[in-house]
Amino acid sequence: MSSSETKYSTIVVTGASGLVGSAIKELIATEPLDSRFGRKRGERWVFLRSGDGDLKDPAQTDAIFEKYKPVAVIHLAALVGGLFNNMRHNLTFLRDNILINDNVLWSAYKHDTKKVISCLSTCVFPDKVEYPLTEEKIHLGPPHSSNFGYSHAKRMVDVQNRAYKDEFGCNFTSAIPTNVFGRYDNFDLEDSHVIPGLIHKCYLAKKNGTPFVVSGTGKPLRQFIHSLDLARLFIWMLREYDDVEPLILSVGEDEEISIKEVADAIVREVGFTGEYKFDTTKSDGQFRKPASNKKIMSLIGDFKFTPFDEALKDTVKWFTENYDIARTGFESSAAAKGGRAQPKEPEDTPPSSPRASFSAALNGTAQKVL
Ligand SMILES: NC(=O)c1ccc[n+]([C@@H]2O[C@H](COP(=O)([O-])OP(=O)(O)OC[C@H]3O[C@@H](n4cnc5c(N)ncnc54)[C@H](OP(=O)(O)O)[C@@H]3O)[C@@H](O)[C@H]2O)c1
Repeated sequence: MSSSETKYSTIVVTGASGLVGSAIKELIATEPLDSRFGRKRGERWVFLRSGDGDLKDPAQTDAIFEKYKPVAVIHLAALVGGLFNNMRHNLTFLRDNILINDNVLWSAYKHDTKKVISCLSTCVFPDKVEYPLTEEKIHLGPPHSSNFGYSHAKRMVDVQNRAYKDEFGCNFTSAIPTNVFGRYDNFDLEDSHVIPGLIHKCYLAKKNGTPFVVSGTGKPLRQFIHSLDLARLFIWMLREYDDVEPLILSVGEDEEISIKEVADAIVREVGFTGEYKFDTTKSDGQFRKPASNKKIMSLIGDFKFTPFDEALKDTVKWFTENYDIARTGFESSAAAKGGRAQPKEPEDTPPSSPRASFSAALNGTAQKVL
């Protein structure tokens, strides 16, 4: 097979209206045909969201596989939520995600899908573990108690992948991204990840002439991956990685940066000149939880991550230019302007259906968690 030929004719991406799926969609729409991270000749990409079918429901999931007959699936769909949502709804996060993952993998097996890459999260790792996190440490102890429902459901995908391989020889695997950020993120003030939350806060502080207050001391360290880099790694995994063992997708441990450095960069990019302070009465969370990217780096060959400042600049620019249609927690204003922001549809892909109402399940605050 030549390098421009595809192994997979139809590729379905579940959860494609979210941060990570939007980045994959953007790459497939914009990278040159047959380029390393672009669409290959003969490939049809299908980008799904909840409106295309509720993956908690086995019949709706089966109908999706029957309709598109995917040869490969990048499975991103999940019920995701901020810390407080998780703490209040551990059973819902456990149950919904177990249902979604079980339905997708079972339908993939029944429809002879050749490959599934499911998306986990670093919260699958044990709460008490020796750092750095590496792929073989997932099951060494219980995850953090705050979001144990979500974490156990995600962890179980690794167990399912191994069982499918063991019993049926399936090529199902998983990816474990660290903190993702970029365009199309969820910028909700109450329940988002640190970067989109701080960008929104700083934007409003500038607009309203109020102080920019960052929760905690600013000292904790984190690894951040730009959503477009993560999308490139998913596309590489799709084409090149055929092993059940999960892969951590992250920048290196030497690229950990502090929350203060993140906030400083946001202040710079937003152009905020007012009062800027840290609320040290608020909790810092874990000081650091570094993950090793040695395995992916040893396999992928030449790959350059987007420098943090460049990725942040792009994200802030996108947010300020798309404030009215970004996910800010004020969805009604987006609806009034014709729906929330989405990348343009790649050629030869069926259009996605509108967002379904299911994600209002948790009082309209379905969000994401690490
Ligand atoms: N963001 C991060 O920092 C991060 C870090 C590590 C891992 N991850 C993982 O990456 C994946 C994608 O995350 P994200 O941040 O892009 O998520 P996101 O922005 O919250 O998007 C979630 C996606 O899942 C879909 N979905 C949810 N429930 C569904 C259901 N019952 N049936 C069908 N579709 C459903 C949503 O559709 P609608 O838009 O139509 O509701 C949406 O497309 C998730 O598996 C998450 O655990 C994310």
